[in-house]
Amino acid sequence: MGGTTPEQDEVRMIETGSNPTRFARGWHCLGLADTFRDGRPHEVKAFGQTAVVFARRDGTIHMIDAFCRHMGGNLARGAVKGDEIACPFHDWRWNGEGRCVGVPYARRVPLRARTTAWITMERNGLLFAWNDPQGNPPPPDVTIPEIEGYGTDRWSEWSWKSYLVEGAHCREIVDNVVDMAHFFYVHYQIPRYFKNVFEGHVASQYMRSTGRDDIKTGVQMDLPDAVTRSEASYYGPSFMLDTIWTESDGDVVEAKLVNCHYPITPDSFLLQYGIVVEKKPGMPDEQAQVMAQTFIDGLEVQFLQDVEIWKHKSRIDNPLLTEEDGPVYQLRRWYQQFYVDVEDVTPEMVRRFEFEVDCDHAIATWEAESREAAARAANAPA
Ligand code: FES
Ligand SMILES: [Fe+2]
Repeated sequence: MGGTTPEQDEVRMIETGSNPTRFARGWHCLGLADTFRDGRPHEVKAFGQTAVVFARRDGTIHMIDAFCRHMGGNLARGAVKGDEIACPFHDWRWNGEGRCVGVPYARRVPLRARTTAWITMERNGLLFAWNDPQGNPPPPDVTIPEIEGYGTDRWSEWSWKSYLVEGAHCREIVDNVVDMAHFFYVHYQIPRYFKNVFEGHVASQYMRSTGRDDIKTGVQMDLPDAVTRSEASYYGPSFMLDTIWTESDGDVVEAKLVNCHYPITPDSFLLQYGIVVEKKPGMPDEQAQVMAQTFIDGLEVQFLQDVEIWKHKSRIDNPLLTEEDGPVYQLRRWYQQFYVDVEDVTPEMVRRFEFEVDCDHAIATWEAESREAAARAANAPA
């Protein structure tokens, strides 16, 4: 065996860096819009702040700072009165634009009675808040696409889940966009094709995969010979919309998966995911709903596998990569655009970048590994 070079002998050190204290500029999904239309105020901790989210009588949903500018009462503990939120402490009334419009016991509302309000938007039955540390409104081209036919008979209702992740920055979940190999080890799939495209505020992942022989998660993708095609895009820093087609026995099931999060503190975030499944003609609603639920239950297993990794891993700013790893550094350069002032976004952060991972070697290894594991399991005494 030949010796090693001095470079090879040098211990590679992890540069952990530190989590940014700033929160990303962009649309962040807060969950299913209808859950905020129950006539009650909802406390949402996001972007290092505490907010109250409430609906007006016309159904529009608003988000303002929860802490009343009078004496600091928590509006999320108050009540919705008419179109305003009333503070539980002295009943000051705040509207959805963040303005105090009434102090029932006082002759006059103080002049400077204005608090922080986030711009909100509803799309595909989901509620979004625009976060921008510079306080600018969203540019018109930075938006969340509509799901074609959403709200019609074409799709099931959302099956939706959320999970609080503590001890990790949300960059960890975004890194998944380029991480071809973890799909085998963490999500029990064999990627057959894997490509990334980044451009502007959108980062996409195109993948075809099959299930493993040895581990089943209970989703459609586990069916023998099922090929899953997935086209997933992050629209901004935190909202991924993924179209999934699962083909088995010549039958194709289409689903729209959302994988999104919003930051709570620099090292915690609320992970949320949901799915709508295409209803085949003549398929009863309940059957579509059962399919969506089965899908999301299977996905939950996969998401929690990611969470386990994040909870115990180190932040790493200098990952050591092989040819089979996707373009982690380029993805992070793209992601950085959301953490700097608009004026400081560089052309490298937003220009088009494409990369296809050559999966051939990995596929051969993984097929053999899962085949052998399945054979071992079959021969094991019961
Ligand atoms: S603290 Fe809110 S009304 Fe007084
Ligand atoms: Fe993952």
